[in-house]
Amino acid sequence: MDHFSYKAQQLCAEDTLLSDIAKKHGTPCYVYSKATIERHWLAFDKAAGNHPHLVCYAVKANSNLAVLNVMAKLGSGFDIVSGGELSRVLKAGGDPAKVVFSGVAKTEQEIALALEHGIKCFNVESLPELDRINQVAGQLGKRAPISLRVNPDVDAKTHPYISTGLKDNKFGVERQQAVAVYQYATTLPNLDIVGMDCHIGSQLTDLKPFVDALNILLALIDELASLGIHIAHLDIGGGLGVNYNGENPPHPDQYAQAIAQRMQGRETLQLIFEPGRAIVANAGVLLTKVEFIKQGAEKNFAIVDAGMNDLIRPALYSAWQQIVPLQQHSTHKAAVYDVVGPVCETSDFLGKGRELAIAAGDYLAVRSAGAYGFVMASNYNSRCRPAEILVDGNNVHVVRERETIEQLFMGEHIPA
Ligand code: LLP
Repeated sequence: MDHFSYKAQQLCAEDTLLSDIAKKHGTPCYVYSKATIERHWLAFDKAAGNHPHLVCYAVKANSNLAVLNVMAKLGSGFDIVSGGELSRVLKAGGDPAKVVFSGVAKTEQEIALALEHGIKCFNVESLPELDRINQVAGQLGKRAPISLRVNPDVDAKTHPYISTGLKDNKFGVERQQAVAVYQYATTLPNLDIVGMDCHIGSQLTDLKPFVDALNILLALIDELASLGIHIAHLDIGGGLGVNYNGENPPHPDQYAQAIAQRMQGRETLQLIFEPGRAIVANAGVLLTKVEFIKQGAEKNFAIVDAGMNDLIRPALYSAWQQIVPLQQHSTHKAAVYDVVGPVCETSDFLGKGRELAIAAGDYLAVRSAGAYGFVMASNYNSRCRPAEILVDGNNVHVVRERETIEQLFMGEHIPA
């Protein structure tokens, strides 16, 4: 459940009229609901119950400092994939001792930064990465806590671009090689083996692939124990889907409970979750204004001021996100539109074939835009990236200002 709803035909975020935000702060802009973020984070945390656990929010889904700060205040951990994300977590007040570091290509500098701040664990994706972490830790006179990302070869049945747990994906270490790689890690002097992890994909709408992966990992943990290698935490990644278009994924409650239940008899094995989308997707909307209504030969177009540079998911994954007017006008006639942006590409659309009762000048909201929205925005077509706003009841905070034209050129030089 989220805190976006119509009151007297006006779409609100919590107690705030979204059209007031659009008028005051301009469009396109992202708006997030603080209460929704808190609600979703707490759903994971509560559902895991008394089993020792840590919710490590996947920063890549939405890395705005204010969003991270909301979760830092709840005591969240964080899953990061770069030095930049670690720096954001620190700036937002996150605890480095609750940070896990994923990603296939961690640089020496990133590893050093993470070691200096004493992160909880490196989620290691290959044998050469073990060597690199060992070497950097040695140089710094530190010990590096590590976990191996095991690729369980289960089909997450999601979009191929966001499926990560199959044999032919670049991620993690194959199940068959995992014991040997763990054994190799025991020979490296500056590493402490603390965990095991996996992440099989994103936008999963069924529990079964998660449970299959969990069973594979638990069997591997037992095999390692028989070889004297003890695993203190099991990180099952992120990936729980959300409802974009009637998908009906399990609630975070059901998901976390199903996982925690299978941990019975393993009371000391800490469970880590890395949810991103499930926490923030439906906590955000992208506001945009209809610039023109254009009648094409075969189609009607609603040309809006947000484009694929602001929200790339429809263009990149053919993702479907709901598009609704901020104000429901009973006087407007409904028609079917392709909602398209200003960018010079045919893939620049936010939605196709949408029935909307709108006119030029109206504001629209693209729903479920809190995850993988702003973070994937670019300056393509030299467009300034949108503002980001956090609503808390009837308080409106600009948490990132709209980019300016001057910022577009920052750091560029014309040789004399
Ligand atoms: N942990 C790891 C190691 C990941 O790679 C990811 C996401 C997550 C956690 C969080 O997954 P989530 O709970 O958000 O599904 N840009 C795509 C999604 C890419 C996901 C990449 N990895 C999209 O817009 O659908």
